[in-house]
Amino acid sequence: MAIGILSARCCLTPDPASMHHIKRGFILLVVLTLSLLVVAYIYHSPYNHFNVVNLIKSCKTESLAVSKDFWNKMHSTTSISTNPVPQHQYVAHPSNYHFIIDEHEKCKQINPFVVFMVPVALYQREARNAIRSTWGNETTVQGKTVLTLFVVGLTVGADSEKAQQQLEEESRQHRDLIQSNFVDSYFNLTIKTMVTMDWLATRCPQATFSMKVDSDMYINLENLMTLLLRPELPRQNYITGFLMWDRPVIRNKKSRYYVSEELYPDTKYPTYVLGVAYVFSNDLPKKLVEASKDVAPFNIEDAYIGACLKQIGVKPSRSPDPSQFRTYMKDPKHHDLSKVITTIARSPKQIVEFWKSVKRQT
Ligand SMILES: *[C@@H]1O[C@H](CO)[C@@H](O)[C@H](O)[C@H]1NC(C)=O
Ligand SMILES: *[C@@H]1O[C@H](CO)[C@@H](O)[C@H](O)[C@H]1NC(C)=O
Repeated sequence: MAIGILSARCCLTPDPASMHHIKRGFILLVVLTLSLLVVAYIYHSPYNHFNVVNLIKSCKTESLAVSKDFWNKMHSTTSISTNPVPQHQYVAHPSNYHFIIDEHEKCKQINPFVVFMVPVALYQREARNAIRSTWGNETTVQGKTVLTLFVVGLTVGADSEKAQQQLEEESRQHRDLIQSNFVDSYFNLTIKTMVTMDWLATRCPQATFSMKVDSDMYINLENLMTLLLRPELPRQNYITGFLMWDRPVIRNKKSRYYVSEELYPDTKYPTYVLGVAYVFSNDLPKKLVEASKDVAPFNIEDAYIGACLKQIGVKPSRSPDPSQFRTYMKDPKHHDLSKVITTIARSPKQIVEFWKSVKRQT
């Protein structure tokens, strides 16, 4: 409201007679507005605080050179707190954490050829249900067994106890959740990935391949399986997806991808595979967990996997048809979706749409 009055000032035609009044009025208004802002901050009333924070945010947003979709996407995979990012050392090695919900018999029972591990925030039940009702509901593809599991951390805050109870209920119903005891947040995604690798190494060594898939992805399982069943495809030391070469480390503190020199001193990342979806031979989880003891952790999970791969001397592979690993597709048609392996969906509903559209064709 205050801003509205201030900006109305620019539209007044200067009339010498009233100029003096306007000046005085204006100074008074500025003083009043400033005092109001100070009061709002001091009293921390949620309403006032919200307005102030929003004002700051709306000013910042304009200077951000990030596409809105990408920004939204980052939000959708985010859990609780994103700000402020603590830049001191944090510990990613999975030996620091343990599983609270742990389907440790699952792989013994099912003996999957491919396991899909989907990191998801605790409250994103809609995303889980979209996957459960589409590609995550498949059990065999081209004669090979597949398994989809969701990985969550701990939630903190007012409703956390209730959220935890609901999660446990959901787990009893679906038996497809893994929960570890680290605090879930965007900053902690590296922990989430390493805990996932630990689970694969210790609870599912019999699988041939695994895939880390974000919860807003459409996966075309037929095309993925065709790739994995190619006779020449290595079943060891293999990882592919959307490759990232020569990526500079972001040193802009305002960026979501900011990494301090303290956490990662080099200016570039080693080649890595974009975190939205990467598929790898299932010998790698154990090797990565082992390697991570010697690779200082930082908060960009996919680049961190790249650093661990470098440590063990494994280079991410270019897939036979790299155009199958897509990120955002502009207005994807049946025709395109039937060719891809991965693409980002803009909502859980869109995962269902994509899936139905491909199902109708086949
Ligand atoms: C999974 O597929 C089966 C049949 O193949 C169906 O009965 C079941 O409802 C599906 N599950 C979900 C969550 O849609
Ligand atoms: C990351 O996880 C650790 C371990 O649970 C926790 O102490 C820390 O607060 C978390 N950091 C953020 C930013 O969530």
